[in-house]
Amino acid sequence: MARIVRPRTFGSPDVLDIVEVETPTPGPGEVVVEVRAAGVNPLDWKLYSGAFHEVDDDEKEAAGLREALPSLGMDCAGVVVTTGPGVTGVSVGDEVIVYPVTAAYADYVLAPVTSLIPKPAGLPWAEAGGLMLAGLTAAHAVQAAGVRAGETVLVHGGSGGVGLMTVQLLRQLGAQVVATAAARNHDLLRDLGATPVVYGPGLTDRVRAAAPQGVDAAVDTAGTEEALDVSLELVADPARIASIVGSDRRFGTGIKLIGYGPGQDAGTQYRASFRGRLAQLAGSGAVRVVIAESFSLDQAARAHELGLSGQATGKIVLLP
Ligand SMILES: NC(=O)c1ccc[n+]([C@@H]2O[C@H](COP(=O)([O-])OP(=O)(O)OC[C@H]3O[C@@H](n4cnc5c(N)ncnc54)[C@H](OP(=O)(O)O)[C@@H]3O)[C@@H](O)[C@H]2O)c1
Repeated sequence: MARIVRPRTFGSPDVLDIVEVETPTPGPGEVVVEVRAAGVNPLDWKLYSGAFHEVDDDEKEAAGLREALPSLGMDCAGVVVTTGPGVTGVSVGDEVIVYPVTAAYADYVLAPVTSLIPKPAGLPWAEAGGLMLAGLTAAHAVQAAGVRAGETVLVHGGSGGVGLMTVQLLRQLGAQVVATAAARNHDLLRDLGATPVVYGPGLTDRVRAAAPQGVDAAVDTAGTEEALDVSLELVADPARIASIVGSDRRFGTGIKLIGYGPGQDAGTQYRASFRGRLAQLAGSGAVRVVIAESFSLDQAARAHELGLSGQATGKIVLLP
């Protein structure tokens, strides 16, 4: 048997249950991985919050139709315990990172063998489990913004899971980085080579003071009106602004919208192609996965409450 975390209905983190299910059996081309660490991502709580319900939800409910409740956990790392027919190149006992994946808030997860990336030997489980979704989103945003060495880039939300990876990937590229964050996170951003500024009124002036040479591109992980306005004001070409958060106002501005929602570029091929490089960068210590806090599987609701509080710096992970 295996434990899995599931929402029993739509709502806030108190709807999360831990339930016993049959340990999965791999089909052709699939493996079962014993999860050692699963990344917690904002999309996890958004999925069962009801935020994505259709406007006619009340009518659907009245008609007895219900939206399917989501499975949780979109990146993880662990040990291969079973391989299905036709699987080659992967053996029981291999330590792997799994992405993309679903239902990783569990002891065991089923995944296609194509989702496995060898885990770098020295990379701790928590960091491996929280690496891919945030790191590939960051890499995709940097690519979408067309950043080159020597340029100056404004990162909104530089202390978040995606923001910290964005800052580090930009520094790897040889870009100068100005990053917005709450003051408590400024030392961390300085350690990573960025110039931190607080967000809020007056942001444009603070960024101009931090980057008198001008701003060539921006990556928006915050999704606020301010992040959009300040980016449009400071970056000459809107196509060099990449936002990972959709909003009605962002459509039609000419900025790059990336992600899985309508009108956004999922960048599936680019993200898949960058997985090995990202694992290598993390394994060598060239980029760090900053862990905010780890929780056990039965503390998933607490993990989501921390994420929703906005007080976490970096990645929250579940360690089953
Ligand atoms: N499109 C995609 O493919 C994709 C992928 C992953 C995530 N996302 C979305 O991107 C967003 C960020 O994800 P994440 O995993 O990085 O979240 P996270 O780890 O929770 O980080 C969010 C960050 O936003 C910062 N923040 C809060 N209020 C702010 C404000 N008013 N202005 C600027 N920054 C502010 C916080 O920084 P301080 O603590 O310093 O205040 C926090 O570190 C979420 O909405 C998520 O759903 C999209």
